[in-house]
Amino acid sequence: MDLNARFHNVAVVGAAGKMGSGISLLLARELTFRALEDPSGSYTLNLIDLNEAMLEGLLRYLQEHGAREAEKHMDRLRRVCGAEDAVQVFVREMMARIRTGTSLPLAQDARMVFEAAFENEALKIRIYRELAALCSSETYFFSNTSSIPLRVMSEASGLQGRLIGFHFYNPSAVQKLIELITPSDCREDLKALSLEIAETMGKIVVPSNDIAGFIGNGHLMRDGLHAIAEVERLAPEHGFHQSVFMVDRVSRDWLLRPMGIFQLMDYVGLDVFQLILNVMNKHLDEHLHSDLIDRLVARGLKGGETLDGAQRDGFFHYEKTRPIAVMNPDTGDYVSLERPWAQEALARLGEHPEPALNWKALKGDPERETKLRTYFAKFKAWPSLGADLALRHLRADRERALRLVEQGVAVRAEDVNRVLQMGFMHLYGPVLDYLFESERCASEAGISRS
Ligand SMILES: NC(=O)c1ccc[n+]([C@@H]2O[C@H](COP(=O)([O-])OP(=O)(O)OC[C@H]3O[C@@H](n4cnc5c(N)ncnc54)[C@H](O)[C@@H]3O)[C@@H](O)[C@H]2O)c1
Repeated sequence: MDLNARFHNVAVVGAAGKMGSGISLLLARELTFRALEDPSGSYTLNLIDLNEAMLEGLLRYLQEHGAREAEKHMDRLRRVCGAEDAVQVFVREMMARIRTGTSLPLAQDARMVFEAAFENEALKIRIYRELAALCSSETYFFSNTSSIPLRVMSEASGLQGRLIGFHFYNPSAVQKLIELITPSDCREDLKALSLEIAETMGKIVVPSNDIAGFIGNGHLMRDGLHAIAEVERLAPEHGFHQSVFMVDRVSRDWLLRPMGIFQLMDYVGLDVFQLILNVMNKHLDEHLHSDLIDRLVARGLKGGETLDGAQRDGFFHYEKTRPIAVMNPDTGDYVSLERPWAQEALARLGEHPEPALNWKALKGDPERETKLRTYFAKFKAWPSLGADLALRHLRADRERALRLVEQGVAVRAEDVNRVLQMGFMHLYGPVLDYLFESERCASEAGISRS
């Protein structure tokens, strides 16, 4: 069955969630174009979610964003619709093709099912078992799991060969990256089909092997654990909340990232972070765990976003999305960043090598590469705690990226770089050879790895 035939009936499970809604929009757009191009065909998009109220919100979102999608693809629209109000025609057509429901039987005729339900192995296996019984033996399944090995889910549900990891990044309608996780039992035509779908959606595919956490979380989880270990190392001398603040600032301001590592963990959700660590811990022969995260989550500090887009408390307390206080885990209180201690902590990091340089300033800069090279070249001869922490962080990032290649998670180091740059908006990949050039040469000569 070719891709067009598969587009006749598509389903999304977990459609009203954060990721599912963007995935639904992309599928609705493509399916509607195909329906307009083939007026005699029948095309249906089934959107399934347990939460009825959220499904209503999803329909409103699709109505509004459907028009924007049509406007973004005006050339294609003009080829299939001569009407003056082509955008409205497109949206009407799109909404007419959508069916919503709260139970899986709505997906029974689907030829492709995209799943973006909660990141819970038992739940996903239950969903796939039920779908395996409901759907045709030719239906293909695309999971948005961030960490659970696909092979584990396909074997437990009887979907061998018909399940692939099609891992969107947040926000799924906008982010270009798809991490494509191909389990060893995956059918060849499903692999080819996935590449074709990614292309129709305008996405860029980075392949990942089917090892828990894949590339993105394989890197992020260990990055978070590195930061926590750094805090534990620094805390006896500098104090705990001071150390969280310093490591966060170094990872943001010195490494030139969009946000510091603890803010990023809050953004991802400390409960999600804990859950993914647990999945990786279960499936990998490596101890990936943090008592600190467990303590914060047990206290109800889970991070994540509220419905109106504000950031919930975690390591930091926020005013909307701006961190304004940092957690003291001993007392459970937040300590304001407006107090003198924060200035003292920054002073301890030492002078920044180039205070005017930051992620925002560099992200669209055509001379970014040269500026980064000059900036990092200063590091090695910049005696300060900030430079020391930044170098330790960069070195750990690089070693981790190389280990992901060694362990077979990533095919090549460049793929880790691409996931970090596209999926996490880093300005440079972790395998930063211009910074560790001498070590790279030594490693290639088989002398040492880092
Ligand atoms: N949020 C992210 O940044 C992100 C990024 C990449 C991948 N992911 C992955 O995407 C998936 C979804 O994550 P999310 O952040 O969108 O979660 P979410 O909580 O926003 O959405 C999950 C949705 O699934 C629905 N659901 C749960 N069980 C269901 C069932 N049995 N049948 C139908 N619907 C069901 C829920 O009602 C909810 O709307 C997870 O596997 C997650 O790991 C998330």
